[in-house]
Amino acid sequence: MEFIDVIKNRYSCRDFSDKQVEPELLEKIVNAGGIAPVGMGSYENFYMVAIAKSETVERIRQAIIDNEGDDRTYGAQAYVLVYSDAINDNPHYKTSLQTVGCLMDHMSLAATELGVDSLYLHGCFHRLAESNSTNLDFLDVPENFQVVCALGIGYAKEAHESLGDVKSKIEYKII
Ligand SMILES: Cc1cc2nc3c(=O)[nH]c(=O)nc-3n(C[C@H](O)[C@H](O)[C@H](O)COP(=O)(O)O)c2cc1C
Repeated sequence: MEFIDVIKNRYSCRDFSDKQVEPELLEKIVNAGGIAPVGMGSYENFYMVAIAKSETVERIRQAIIDNEGDDRTYGAQAYVLVYSDAINDNPHYKTSLQTVGCLMDHMSLAATELGVDSLYLHGCFHRLAESNSTNLDFLDVPENFQVVCALGIGYAKEAHESLGDVKSKIEYKII
């Protein structure tokens, strides 16, 4: 796929089928995240956990359901959780959030290129972290890291159409 077509094919999937994500594809996706641009090159401020094992995926989904009341991950069959230790009152907080966005975008585009659908999940993971829930502690991430967001990954129940020739959805000017 031409790179511009990868961009036009990426979209937020909110209806995943129960088809499992192949571990080797998950590894390619997480590796794409791990070579994204990182503010100040501070790779040590970030951590990712990629999960395709179904019982672990379901345990995470249950943590979200317990906190939200419903499955805000829309049946995703794999996750990449993105953690940062530069959060809230850390002076590098804003840089850290922008870096996380870069990691996430790299992963979602890599997923698209591999024919895998994805969804950027910030709200439900942010609320889980803020609720001081211990439900994700079993993932045993190094101390001081907090989950910022996650990429939900899987295969959509229904095919999605490429954006085709649609132009920017954001107003801009060229001067
Ligand atoms: C920083 C960020 C956070 C997002 N958080 C969520 C989220 O928590 N839940 C969700 O369903 N979608 C989330 N999205 C997806 C957006 O709603 C989606 O990208 C937007 O509506 C445009 O649709 P598209 O991705 O299909 O082009 C998030 C996207 C970004 C960039």
